[in-house]
Amino acid sequence: MDKLRITGPCRLEGEIRAAGAKNAALPALAASLLTEKTIALSRVPEVQDLRTMRKLLEHLGVDSSGSDEVLELRHAVPSEYDDAPYELVKTMRASVLVLGPLVARLGHARVSLPGGCAIGSRPIDQHLAGLEALGAEITLDHGYVTARTRPDGSGSPGRLEGARFRFAAPTVGGTENLLMAATLAKGTTILENCAQEPEIRDLGNLLAKMGARISGAGEATIEIEGVESLAGASHTILADRIEAGTYLIGAAMTGGEVTVRDAVAADLAPLLELLAECGCDIETSDSSVTVARTSELRPRNVVTAPHPGFPTDLQAQYLTLMTQASGTSTICETIFESRFQHVPELRRMGADVEVHGNVARVNGPTRLTGARVMATDLRASACLVLAALAADGESVIERIYHLDRGYEAMELKLHVLGAGWRVERTSEDHR
Ligand code: EPZ
Repeated sequence: MDKLRITGPCRLEGEIRAAGAKNAALPALAASLLTEKTIALSRVPEVQDLRTMRKLLEHLGVDSSGSDEVLELRHAVPSEYDDAPYELVKTMRASVLVLGPLVARLGHARVSLPGGCAIGSRPIDQHLAGLEALGAEITLDHGYVTARTRPDGSGSPGRLEGARFRFAAPTVGGTENLLMAATLAKGTTILENCAQEPEIRDLGNLLAKMGARISGAGEATIEIEGVESLAGASHTILADRIEAGTYLIGAAMTGGEVTVRDAVAADLAPLLELLAECGCDIETSDSSVTVARTSELRPRNVVTAPHPGFPTDLQAQYLTLMTQASGTSTICETIFESRFQHVPELRRMGADVEVHGNVARVNGPTRLTGARVMATDLRASACLVLAALAADGESVIERIYHLDRGYEAMELKLHVLGAGWRVERTSEDHR
């Protein structure tokens, strides 16, 4: 298994380009199931989760071909399979995003329940309640969920029917599943208490290019007027605000200066406001964001929340930064029930952090020292990279397949930011 060997301290300085957002590309690929025409997606990130999604879509009959920066997908002839098998879903929960498009287009779908992961139990009850509101019949058995539309009497599967549905709490995947399903439903659907992450706005833009009639994607209430069928479209995936935010926090962490080109400053507002309060210098333009730190880091508390609150996907990285702040800060994680798996690894590097329930209390500044540490989930592995860059001495981060799920060749981007020999990917077993 690959490891990253990092020799700190190492100041990050320079400019990189944000990749397309993993969490916008995944629903965009799933949207290919909604039409028999071709959709052409640019800036799809080269990360493991997208390779997994392509494999699942091919299983479902989607032909995909990638050249240069454009990925073309076409679901011309649905395969006899309408199922998302456990073997694939267990490696990537976002596979559940094929459920809404499949039942809307084919009238039936069978998707393995995703199960939990390192950060939480990750239920999909809201996805299922929403599909039931649109008229789907849901059954659960043998670890699979089956969704079917009611027959329309002509022998072919009926269509979903537009309805008003209110999410019990904002859910990104649930909003995306229902948004996609409603585009082909009969009549109008109104979704309330939706997640408002920028990736949902981006999905709405793609669906509209395909001919869907949507208003409010990316806002709390979304109205969709169903259509009979959707066309093909070309679309460039939104820049990845979490990848960009990770490198910008890296600039603050290492006392450097990083510019991320193509990052959308408005999508990063919750982080940038906080970094400015901590004493970082922030510069934004309509095509890039720059963070520099030249002075002492002030501690600032944070509570994660659905967008436009502080994103849970930057919590581990921000907590790591607070180990270098001059004072005590608290990090409250309100989205997932066990998203502090990175804390024991950070403590091995010298961080002074105590976790009580869903609150981590960080005392800083502490001198971090290099150590062998283990990644547990995607964003925890990113925070260990940031800690290793700021630490004195050599760190070896194991199980970086977690990192490869959501970051395009992180070591190459760190080389561009001046890390050079200090960051090396190895696979051999070093004692
Ligand atoms: C998406 O996951 C992202 N993944 C996650 O990013 C991100 O952390 C999360 O949204 C929150 O922003 C993708 O977009 C592929 P949710 P998702 O449904 O959709 C509960 C990363 O690092 N919930 O918004 O699964 C759930 O348990 C990943 O890139 C229900 O109770 O998240 C959680 O506590 C990690 N019932 C909360 O809602 C449901 O039916 C938010 O989950 C659905 C969710």
